[in-house]
Amino acid sequence: MTGSRLVSVGTALPDDRLTNADFEAMMETTDEWIVSRTGIRERRVGGTTTGLATDAARQALDRSGVDRDRIDLVVVATQTPDDLCPSTAAGVQHALGLTCGAFDLNAACAGFSYAVVTVHAMLVSGAIRAAVVVGVDRMTAATDYEDRGTAILFGDGAGAVVMTADPAGTVGVRSWDMGTDGGHSDILTSPIKDGTITGVEMDGKILFKHMVGYAVESARAAVERAGIGFDSVRAVLAHQANQRILDAVADRLSVPRDTFVSVIAHTGNTSAASVPLALDAAVGDGRVRSGDTILLTGFGGGLSWASTVAVWQG
Ligand code: COA
Repeated sequence: MTGSRLVSVGTALPDDRLTNADFEAMMETTDEWIVSRTGIRERRVGGTTTGLATDAARQALDRSGVDRDRIDLVVVATQTPDDLCPSTAAGVQHALGLTCGAFDLNAACAGFSYAVVTVHAMLVSGAIRAAVVVGVDRMTAATDYEDRGTAILFGDGAGAVVMTADPAGTVGVRSWDMGTDGGHSDILTSPIKDGTITGVEMDGKILFKHMVGYAVESARAAVERAGIGFDSVRAVLAHQANQRILDAVADRLSVPRDTFVSVIAHTGNTSAASVPLALDAAVGDGRVRSGDTILLTGFGGGLSWASTVAVWQG
């Protein structure tokens, strides 16, 4: 049966940095509080959603070696598009000189992981031959800088992968898990009031517990469905919401903490971009090599989560 492969990754981060010292100058907070509660030291800020998405997608495409003629789809996961219409994916498609289908998908911070599962299903069905999958968010455009409880968390960025059909179905994506608990959607919201996103509103402590629980369950489900144990997983690329969440999930799964790749210190929470940003870091420093089994796990507003176990083919 046909399968799907993840064959390359690319990223884009804005040049400007917002450090914890900048926040100390802006509001009543300290570097010590932010680092000890979140692990974040700085975030990258600026750019446009379409621009960041295009840069990450171009890098992933260039690294893939896949002929542009074979790209049948661009999917962009974002909750912070530049405009509601046209889709961000339409802008990326045009900027890359592609003529294929293109659409956006919103599953908040789980968006990239949702997009990977969606594209996997389309590749397996034979509907498409190859696709560019982007996770991008400009969270700082939707951040309330009067609210110290949320302002210090977010940054901007984009990450992308190229996925291709695997005719033999013997390498690549092994399993997936996906879910949403809409009954708890009010714990994390970005409401639109009078046409403007006024900022992220959340009950941080309750959210923390839910996120750890869903991430653990989803990661466990995907690994079990792949028919392997966590000892076979070379690296976990999980959503970077808080270093303490990454550590808590690792501990609950009895996985060494350093199996969970962390980039949050220098990116903050970049929402849909965080999983491919972590993947790119791990591929870049050699922690993940071609043939290694990896686990992608996204979780966030919805509340939504999705995981994929794959053999990296980059
Ligand atoms: N600097 C200094 N103090 C701060 C602060 C800041 N930036 N933000 C909040 N505080 C204070 C609070 O006012 C509170 O003070 P009090 O005890 O006098 O009332 C105290 O620190 C503790 O606040 P609390 O919100 O309970 O902290 P916390 O340990 O829960 O950490 C988060 C806050 C947001 C870091 C944490 O709850 C979290 O990461 N939650 C999950 C976020 C998440 O998963 N988001 C998902 C998005 S996809």
